[in-house]
Amino acid sequence: MSTPEDSASLYGELFESARRLSFDLRDNEINAEIAVDRYGMTPEWSPLYGTPTWNRMTDSERMQLTRREVSHFLGVAIWLEVALQIVLLRRNHSADPTRADVKFLFNECADENLHSLMFVGAIEQLGERHSPLDRLLVFVGWLFRTFAWAEIAYGIVLAGEEIFDVMQRDWSIDDRVAVAVRRSSHVHVVEESRHMTFARQKIRDHLRDASRFRRNVSAVLIAVGAHIIAKGLINKGIYRDLGLDWRVAKHEIDRNEHHRMMFRRATAPLVEFLDREGLLNTVARKIYRQSNLL
Ligand SMILES: [Fe+2]
Ligand SMILES: [Fe+2]
Repeated sequence: MSTPEDSASLYGELFESARRLSFDLRDNEINAEIAVDRYGMTPEWSPLYGTPTWNRMTDSERMQLTRREVSHFLGVAIWLEVALQIVLLRRNHSADPTRADVKFLFNECADENLHSLMFVGAIEQLGERHSPLDRLLVFVGWLFRTFAWAEIAYGIVLAGEEIFDVMQRDWSIDDRVAVAVRRSSHVHVVEESRHMTFARQKIRDHLRDASRFRRNVSAVLIAVGAHIIAKGLINKGIYRDLGLDWRVAKHEIDRNEHHRMMFRRATAPLVEFLDREGLLNTVARKIYRQSNLL
């Protein structure tokens, strides 16, 4: 088990690593390409991939669908990036700013704001717009911002980061995908790997002397958070905008074994970590299974 000194030295290393390798994509070559003959994301990540609706579409309709879907996914990513800053900055407002973990947190927030701008740039490059979030997501965002503490906050943040990490690794190296998404995914994967290391260590720090009861409560709340993030990625507004019947689309997505497999893949590293840290009890497992994440 790591000591508080080990944690402090890890936070220091993360801060140094961020100083050596960070990006700013607000104003770069992604502005060069506005291609309509590209997918918004790796098509296999579309929740509709392989369904009867998908099979009826032309290539150009599939490209249009994934461009709309990825714009929404990136909107959810921005929503998470803003929420995590509100929670974590609030919790650390009076902390010693020279502490290694607080310094890294400041750096993480700087990253997150640049990521949000980078994703807005990608949405604009795709010629898309922001889709309003589900009311449930907005309400849960409020709960999270107001009440999340310690390992719950870092656990839910980590859930979002892990899911995007797996998807964006694919998008970043897929030639079929628009350059704006490919480039921003690459930057995000590199910088988020530090955030994920930070969140995992923070969770371990908070659980070092935690009771079994607290671990169980945290396990369930993190599972609820992951469930809502995964559900929030599928937004009926996008399918309706494209002239699809939402009931049919929902029915097909719910029964799409390929989509379930991709979402399980997206959460596999998270689930493995939670299991190792004793954050995967029976109730949590049930929730992950319900949302096809296990
Ligand atoms: Fe980010
Ligand atoms: Fe992050």
